[in-house]
Amino acid sequence: MKKDILKALRKNRGDFISGQDLSDSLGVSRTSIWKQVNQLREEGYKVESVTRKGYRLLGVPDSLTEEEVRPYLNTGLIGCKIIHHHTLDSTNEQLKKIASEEVEGTVVVSEEQTGGKGRLGRTWTSSKGKGIYMSILLKPEIHPQDASKITQIIAASVVLALKGLNIDAKIKWPNDIIVNSKKVAGVLTEMSGELMRVDHIIVGTGININNDQGDFPEKIREKASSLMLEMGESFNRARVMAEVLNNFELLYMNFLESKEITESLEVCRENSILLGKEVRIITKGVERVRRAVELGLGGELIVEDEDGNRETIVSGEVSVRALHGYI
Ligand code: BTN
Repeated sequence: MKKDILKALRKNRGDFISGQDLSDSLGVSRTSIWKQVNQLREEGYKVESVTRKGYRLLGVPDSLTEEEVRPYLNTGLIGCKIIHHHTLDSTNEQLKKIASEEVEGTVVVSEEQTGGKGRLGRTWTSSKGKGIYMSILLKPEIHPQDASKITQIIAASVVLALKGLNIDAKIKWPNDIIVNSKKVAGVLTEMSGELMRVDHIIVGTGININNDQGDFPEKIREKASSLMLEMGESFNRARVMAEVLNNFELLYMNFLESKEITESLEVCRENSILLGKEVRIITKGVERVRRAVELGLGGELIVEDEDGNRETIVSGEVSVRALHGYI
């Protein structure tokens, strides 16, 4: 019932809706409406109540609950269920635990992570209420070899979502999202399955939205940033989250139908920060310099040496850096 009251308040946002109208339309007493409104207030909703006028919604909490994200969402599959937590070790780890019981498209999101995981065994700083830390559950019928394509799909989705907010975001292959030469988001795709069959894929996404510099550990301050720090304004986290999911659904559906990631690759190529540049490729501590020339059909990075010999780099255990500086 609380959800229905919130829906009605949202629909009339700024205007009053009488307690009687609410109680008539929901078929419950005015006292229960009053109790539920108080619950909403405890959750951070600003609801004004005025005698003989009723209730009106003045403000919503800055949180990533299903109630806050759903109004911005226009997907059928992705985000069909949103499981919200105040704190978790890692949304990827949590989703792994429940993957067999949940349907494809389920999203786990948390306001903070105490053990956020990054690629190559790194950690992901996940300050409370400042960013988006979410994981999407996928159960596609694909060969394990194709699972890495999902990384390109989510990277493209994040970039498209940010571009939709007029943010000039770039991708540093395979999984970093860059704004003004700083990393603002990262994706971590994890697969569970057998040699020939994918059981499920967990697509983890971390986006630094309204973080201050002090939210990042000193050793990554030079490299890491947030949308707020780079753009000079704060962003509605629920809206950004929904926009990423909206874009992801379109690109993922396209992949399921065609088994190709043509559209995602186009976005990744157009917005790549590495293509055409000299890069350092670091594998198990050994470093070599090559020119990044292309993204392959599976999302792999194709590089060239001075003599024009080409080599394909798959994301796995490789770290890629531009020749000068972090990027
Ligand atoms: C990287 O850039 O190295 C990848 C970072 C991925 C972070 C996200 S936050 C949500 C999800 N849960 C995790 O523990 N990690 C991913």
